[in-house]
Amino acid sequence: MLDILAISGSLRAASTNSALIAALAQNAPPGCRITVYDGLGRLPIFNPDDEGERTPAEASALIDAVSGADGVIISCPEYAHGVPGGLKNGLDWLVSRDAAVGKPAMLVHASPRSLFARAALAEIMRTMSFALYDEVPLEIALLGKKAPEVEKILAEPANRVAMRNALSAFAGFIRQC
Ligand SMILES: Cc1cc2nc3c(=O)[nH]c(=O)nc-3n(C[C@H](O)[C@H](O)[C@H](O)COP(=O)(O)O)c2cc1C
Repeated sequence: MLDILAISGSLRAASTNSALIAALAQNAPPGCRITVYDGLGRLPIFNPDDEGERTPAEASALIDAVSGADGVIISCPEYAHGVPGGLKNGLDWLVSRDAAVGKPAMLVHASPRSLFARAALAEIMRTMSFALYDEVPLEIALLGKKAPEVEKILAEPANRVAMRNALSAFAGFIRQC
């Protein structure tokens, strides 16, 4: 069984990225278990002085969750052509240790825009030595949609197949890593 950690880069209650992450967890193919990480909003602002013995409990929980996962999936919005601070802050807590090194990771997209953030996030994650899988990008356009429509789109058979296919492809990549 592959354990995959899924992270939304949005803290919004009605986040489309979080909805995509939740739908992926519901559509996990056999042999994959997806756990949703929801602690980004509780993490203290990263400070290198607070590493080692002083690492805050919330940061340790994230580090342990990433370390224990076979792979990581991230769905993230774009803010002012960049990666939202909350997600970048979470990633910063993972830099000076082994958690991300060689860890298979996949980006999925809830917006057809966000091209700057996608590129920036990929660059950040490669720099952190994540093993980034980017051969079959999953994009389901949920930008600007309200919750009932988001739910409807994510329940469409073609989108469920697309989610399963993306997850199966990522699982294959994880097994090769
Ligand atoms: C502060 C802020 C800045 C944004 N900047 C951009 C941007 O530069 N490019 C873009 O495509 N969308 C931008 N957006 C739109 C969000 O990326 C978009 O609404 C996204 O789908 C929100 O994701 P969520 O539903 O998961 O919260 C911005 C939104 C906010 C709140």
